Amino acid sequence: MSKDLPDVVKALTLQASVCRNMGSPLNGDLLDRAAADWLAGGPVKALMAPWEHADLQGQFDAAAPLRLIGSWHELALSGDDPAVARAYKALDADAIWAAVSIAMVARYDRLAAFMAHEPQTNEVRRSICLLGGFLEVARMTGLPLRCFEIAASAGLNASWDRYRYTVGDAVWGDPAASVRMDTAWNGPPPAVEAPVKVIERAACDRRPTDLTDPAQSRRLMAYIWADQADRLARLRAAIEVTLANGLTVERADAADWVRAKVRPHTGAATVLYHSVFWQYMPPESQSALAALIAEIGATATADAPFAWLRMEPPGLAPRMDIRLTLWPGGEERLLGHCHPHGASVEWLGGPSP
Ligand SMILES: C[S@@+](CC[C@H](N)C(=O)[O-])C[C@H]1O[C@@H](n2cnc3c(N)ncnc32)[C@H](O)[C@@H]1O
Repeated sequence: MSKDLPDVVKALTLQASVCRNMGSPLNGDLLDRAAADWLAGGPVKALMAPWEHADLQGQFDAAAPLRLIGSWHELALSGDDPAVARAYKALDADAIWAAVSIAMVARYDRLAAFMAHEPQTNEVRRSICLLGGFLEVARMTGLPLRCFEIAASAGLNASWDRYRYTVGDAVWGDPAASVRMDTAWNGPPPAVEAPVKVIERAACDRRPTDLTDPAQSRRLMAYIWADQADRLARLRAAIEVTLANGLTVERADAADWVRAKVRPHTGAATVLYHSVFWQYMPPESQSALAALIAEIGATATADAPFAWLRMEPPGLAPRMDIRLTLWPGGEERLLGHCHPHGASVEWLGGPSP
């Protein structure tokens, strides 16, 4: 890629290769076309204008390229533009590009409004990355779990114990569960024999997705890559489970909510967890929240333990670390690494010592 290209074009092209590497050749193709369109002064230029002067880091922090392809997919899912909907149904890149090229002009306002909204995603298969951490807390403490999720989006991963998992040669969860997932699991099995009972669950997000609103549900689906049918099907099933469970994600800033709600409780292991959230806070908020979590940890006791479980990227690497800190003691363990969408897990944690 030429160093002279504007960052907005570099971002589209880099996101294209990320999509290809993460199993979405369709979006790889569409984003390459979008980069060429921007350079040719096509309709992509107007839609990307709000990020035109952002540097490469700014483009990725704002997920600007993902907003663009999300806006097209949302239009397809809505059925409001039959040509776009048909082309997406066929997963035909030429037909999609032809249809969205028209829509980017004819439906500019709608697409720009979608892109102006902060991306909202909730990746259900991240539950398979977190599962081993929850099992580890249950195994180490022998106590029922109180689960508090911050930055939960629509709260789909707050139902993690209601899903069925295949992790290498092991399975965990209700055999009749409608949400089922597997992954390319490497390493020892997680502690699937640990007794797990979730006795309390709560979740917050600064901008929760209200699944009872079809437009908001569709926004979540729009950010799933259109050529990844299994992710879309899993998301649909998880939305149904979460709606049936009646879980409400509270609207709150993570730090405020943790300060107000989360503290150890005798007779249960209190687990604070999150996935793909930390990068959305400025560094000073990250330090403040980490300090708050350590303060809460310092109040934990053997019969009121406190765990901090998270799946977050180390820097800009396109992979996630799964980490667990357990108090009393506050020992931090790197349990494993995983693909950002849970397609693979390299498990280091193991059920010992
Ligand atoms: C990439 S999404 C991840 C959602 C979910 N954890 C998952 O893994 O599917 C990031 C989420 O962080 C939320 N968020 C960002 N900053 C926040 C904050 N300070 N307090 C609460 N939620 C926040 C956003 O609203 C968004 O829902």
